[in-house]
Amino acid sequence: MKCPSALLLLAIFTVLVLSCAQQASLVEDFINIDCGLPSGSSYVDEKTNITYISDDQYIDTGENHKISSEHQGAEQFRSGLNLRSFPTGGRNCYTLYPAIKGQKYLIRGMFMHGNYDNKSQNLISSPLLFDICIGLNFWNQVNISSATMTYTSEAIVLATVNSISVCLLDNGKGTPFISSLEMRPMKSSNYPAATPNHPLLLQDRRSMGANSTIRYPDDPYDRLWWPSQNTSEWIKISTTSMVRRYPDDVYEVPAAVLKTAAMTSSNSTALNFLWLAPASWAAAPGYLLGLHFTDFQQEQLREFHIYYNGKSFVPDGKSYSPPYLLANYWNDSSPTVSDNGLSYKISIVATNASVLPPMLNAIEVYYQVQQDEKMTSSEDVDAMMTIKIEYQVKKNWMGDPCLPEKNLSRNGLTGSVPESLTNLPNILVLDLSGNHLNGTFPEGLCKNRALILRYDTANGDPCSSRSSKKKKKTVLAVAIVVPVVIVSAILMFISAKSKSRGQEHCGDHAHIPDNREFTYDELAKITNNFSTFIGEGGFGPVFHGQLKDGTQLAIKMCSPTSTPGKGMPEFLAEVESLTTVHHRYLVLLVGYCTDKDHLALVYEYMPNGSLYDHLREKTNFLYLKLSWQHRGRIALEAAQGLDYLHTGCVLPIVHRDVKSHNILLGCDLNANISDFGLSKSYLHVAQSHITATAAGTPGYIDPEYCRSGRLTVTSDVYSFGVVLLEIVTGEPPVIPTTGHIVQRIKEKVNMGKIEAIADPRLHDEFDVSSIWKVVDTALMCTKEASSERPTMSMVVAQLKDALALEQARLRYSISDISQGGANAELSYSIPTPR
Ligand SMILES: *[C@@H]1O[C@H](CO)[C@@H](O)[C@H](O)[C@H]1NC(C)=O
Ligand SMILES: *[C@@H]1O[C@H](CO)[C@@H](O)[C@H](O)[C@H]1NC(C)=O
Ligand SMILES: *[C@@H]1O[C@H](CO)[C@@H](O)[C@H](O)[C@H]1NC(C)=O
Ligand SMILES: *[C@@H]1O[C@H](CO)[C@@H](O)[C@H](O)[C@H]1NC(C)=O
Ligand SMILES: *[C@@H]1O[C@H](CO)[C@@H](O)[C@H](O)[C@H]1NC(C)=O
Ligand SMILES: *[C@@H]1O[C@H](CO)[C@@H](O)[C@H](O)[C@H]1NC(C)=O
Ligand SMILES: *[C@@H]1O[C@H](CO)[C@@H](O)[C@H](O)[C@H]1NC(C)=O
Ligand SMILES: *[C@@H]1O[C@H](CO)[C@@H](O)[C@H](O)[C@H]1NC(C)=O
Repeated sequence: MKCPSALLLLAIFTVLVLSCAQQASLVEDFINIDCGLPSGSSYVDEKTNITYISDDQYIDTGENHKISSEHQGAEQFRSGLNLRSFPTGGRNCYTLYPAIKGQKYLIRGMFMHGNYDNKSQNLISSPLLFDICIGLNFWNQVNISSATMTYTSEAIVLATVNSISVCLLDNGKGTPFISSLEMRPMKSSNYPAATPNHPLLLQDRRSMGANSTIRYPDDPYDRLWWPSQNTSEWIKISTTSMVRRYPDDVYEVPAAVLKTAAMTSSNSTALNFLWLAPASWAAAPGYLLGLHFTDFQQEQLREFHIYYNGKSFVPDGKSYSPPYLLANYWNDSSPTVSDNGLSYKISIVATNASVLPPMLNAIEVYYQVQQDEKMTSSEDVDAMMTIKIEYQVKKNWMGDPCLPEKNLSRNGLTGSVPESLTNLPNILVLDLSGNHLNGTFPEGLCKNRALILRYDTANGDPCSSRSSKKKKKTVLAVAIVVPVVIVSAILMFISAKSKSRGQEHCGDHAHIPDNREFTYDELAKITNNFSTFIGEGGFGPVFHGQLKDGTQLAIKMCSPTSTPGKGMPEFLAEVESLTTVHHRYLVLLVGYCTDKDHLALVYEYMPNGSLYDHLREKTNFLYLKLSWQHRGRIALEAAQGLDYLHTGCVLPIVHRDVKSHNILLGCDLNANISDFGLSKSYLHVAQSHITATAAGTPGYIDPEYCRSGRLTVTSDVYSFGVVLLEIVTGEPPVIPTTGHIVQRIKEKVNMGKIEAIADPRLHDEFDVSSIWKVVDTALMCTKEASSERPTMSMVVAQLKDALALEQARLRYSISDISQGGANAELSYSIPTPR
């Protein structure tokens, strides 16, 4: 806290004049990203003269969009015109580099929806909610309830490595998106409360007397100083004189801000500033303030008390007089949580002796949230960044199956795997597959028992064929045969606490309002004495039920023959995983029953049965003729659900029983993954697999899992590949006389006959490349060696492409038709995938 008595010691030479103090701001060191701008393009923003560039070198995932034309003009900054959305993947990250380790940065994300997806009318009733993080530190919950507003999040961060990652987390409450991302270097002496892994997160920053937002070039750090909103109560005052500043001023509030202020109309009126903490966050944020003062006159006494939540903000309850044309501030040294944790109030009240009313030039309100210590390991991030930047890693690219076999080695890059890769204390999974590696891996990499390492063994095992004498730097030549995934490393950080912040995020959406315990008698009532049997679940029969309000339910009973003691762990595992994981493509758990000896799970009812039912034409469901487009959409949604299980949580969750029975269809044939009754989280870093009692269903079980008993997410990928083949062919996985579906398809593929593969019920109504793409993806998924299988994120990308091909075909045929009739377009409306 800056002591006002220091003013007495004020000597003119210790004070800088603000206009001179605006040191050459390093605008060249600004990173200005207009997210969603077409790849490779840039422009100069007219308001700031800052050059914005596209985001392609900072992120590999997501989709580019423009805001709709109706909202153009409403954007506060030009960067609001474009955005990048992330319909897949639980966590998508921008990597801002280069950063200087130990340097402080201002980071700002802006979010303008602009009805880019033509769904903005939903925002009013159910706002879009997603979390943003800096590295693994929670930053903010972005709450978009208006398509026309520009939402801003700002943070002051100390870089712990040579890059800063900003991540968007899908909480199942809408597709995350971002319009712009900016990074500005600050002095390390600025904002001392921002320390490694404890960023200062901005709640509000106001220039009380300004008429419009002040930023760069007025503020060399490009902070946004918003004008105050409470103008009718206050009188705005300003000066044209220069305002001086102490050389050790940690805030460096720009002159344009300090030269204006707000004061109340009379001494008897207090100047109040209030805010509310978000009520829905897991941990109440603690606030840190900066109150900025300078007076523009010295003839009359202006003296006041500053109260913060009713207590004096100035030590010992002293009164305060702002100095004349000198920047001064009051702040607090540690975060404060108010008594109720919700409402906060600054009240500036004139003393009896004061001649002039109270004033305030500017206010900054920051928050910090409780974080788990030992989060990001700088070594991990450094190593990953090295790889990513060196090899220009592109995710989600698997090669085009429609093209004939080709040798792209001349497009390949060569390089060496850095020794730093051996030192990955917190990375759980490192996927080096999909490359042609000739050479051996550094020993430390292979011996890292805490790491799940995936790689190809086509050219010999790079981990076993090592020569023990070569202990020096092992250099690998990496030749990429297709411009392919080099490394899709999943940074999985384990924290000692089982309820880490990250996990809570995964489970944020876990607060399903209806999640409740049912008694057996209630279930009997709901199901009308278990009168409507709708199927056989993993543990027993499934009954239809209905609540008083009409909500339809599916009640999965634990079959009476299986002893409760035996089924209990699995049952509770399902309850646990379902209540901590919620995503739009995963079936919602409404409640459960553990009454007496009865165990049951209560789900929302999915009215259109399972994918299995429709592919096999079961009679107890309305038979729907699934077009290729329907099938493609179902496959994509199911893949996204699985991808979320695998990557959306701090720990990957293996479904363990992926099959067409467990892909359920909603009213508009939307797909949801159900029955992760056998799911389990990886429990420990060192535990790269769980050996469990045989799980899964014949025909879908990963053969490698059968042999080894090791269960990883790749086993789900295998099973999902089988489901994809079912979707294409309409055939069951196993036909007694002709063997397994993977073998059957491989034979037909070798003959090159797509017609022989596609379900005859499709009547040749499909885009051939689209089917090929799905078959090719399925065959990748069902590779014998789990290390050669793609991740679900890659599968999602492939299925998107496949669906797009089919939709292009449909659009083409529709426009053909619509030339004939006026309403043709209506009758052929195409549901688009999310
Ligand atoms: C931007 O640059 C132009 C030309 O150099 C100059 O005229 C204009 O004043 C600058 N605008 C700002 C806001 O600095
Ligand atoms: C957007 O939605 C409206 C109605 O919800 C519809 O009339 C319009 O055609 C849609 N526009 C696009 C581009 O899909
Ligand atoms: C999101 O914002 C809307 C409108 O400001 C508000 O009504 C709603 O409570 C907010 N939701 C959360 C979870 O903060
Ligand atoms: C803000 O607007 C008022 C009224 O238009 C004007 O008198 C005042 O000078 C403006 N303040 C600044 C800082 O531009
Ligand atoms: C605006 O000022 C009035 C009077 O001081 C006060 O009652 C009100 O709470 C203030 N509003 C905000 C948002 O600070
Ligand atoms: C359910 O069965 C019990 C006894 O078996 C009977 O008393 C009750 O009336 C039945 N309830 C309904 C809704 O049929
Ligand atoms: C199924 O998915 C849709 C979105 O595709 C979602 O709106 C719905 O709530 C989900 N249904 C269940 C039962 O979870
Ligand atoms: C899904 O099931 C409901 C209720 O059984 C039925 O009315 C509806 O037509 C089905 N959906 C489709 C797309 O056929």
